[in-house]
Amino acid sequence: MRARISSPESRRRAHELRAAADAVMVGAGTVRRDDPRLTARDAAGPDPVRVVVSRGARLPLDALVFATAREVPTILLATGDVAPEAAAVLDDRGVEIVRARDLRDGLAVLASRGLLEILLEGGPTLAGALLADELVDRLTVFVAPLVLGRGAPDLVALAAPAAVAEGLALSDVSWETTGRDAVCRARIVRSRVAAAPSQASAEWGPRAVPAEGATEGDD
Ligand SMILES: NC(=O)c1ccc[n+]([C@@H]2O[C@H](COP(=O)([O-])OP(=O)(O)OC[C@H]3O[C@@H](n4cnc5c(N)ncnc54)[C@H](OP(=O)(O)O)[C@@H]3O)[C@@H](O)[C@H]2O)c1
Repeated sequence: MRARISSPESRRRAHELRAAADAVMVGAGTVRRDDPRLTARDAAGPDPVRVVVSRGARLPLDALVFATAREVPTILLATGDVAPEAAAVLDDRGVEIVRARDLRDGLAVLASRGLLEILLEGGPTLAGALLADELVDRLTVFVAPLVLGRGAPDLVALAAPAAVAEGLALSDVSWETTGRDAVCRARIVRSRVAAAPSQASAEWGPRAVPAEGATEGDD
């Protein structure tokens, strides 16, 4: 069985966040690496719409989220070209393809369909890109009592600022515990941050956590 970073209480809490959201969003790298289900099965509420973001060129067509799209509505948000063959496979599985110029445009299209409260569960590359474009309002970080070293995925792929004062500042910060973990919730104070390249090629299993929502990227 796969080792977990977050406690069962934190994972349940993450599912509650999913159930409270209109949609849960991840980058295609997380789907390729973790093959998550992204349902709210440990919470009382409904499953959110699932949104996978990709430029479209290397889609994980056999992923669970796509295979189960007739059970839980699933959108591929593509900012680049999707090959007709891949589009046909996704269409056959019931996945809706939403095309957008970029992330900002993609969020606007989702909003126009009533998907306003979006729980971004990572991974670091997509979270970094959305933060750098100032498209994230709130952050929820689950902190497990575990120290992982260099080579583990970043929480968010942002370039280090030149000075501490130029980091991504947070306000309205609250801390609580879920099981053995701490949870920090905060609003993002607008700040100039730059996205950093992905670390996704690292051989890596479980993880620690990002943006408004998220615990382990299991499932
Ligand atoms: N700590 C956590 O809670 C947590 C959460 C999730 C994932 N993770 C970990 O993160 C690792 C994966 O990292 P990752 O950085 O590859 O994941 P990711 O951010 O989920 O996926 C990156 C992919 O998302 C798409 N993407 C990112 N920015 C985009 C943009 N501006 N426009 C369009 N598409 C964009 C691209 O897909 P295409 O390449 O298909 O174009 C890109 O390769 C895994 O090891 C996973 O376990 C951790």
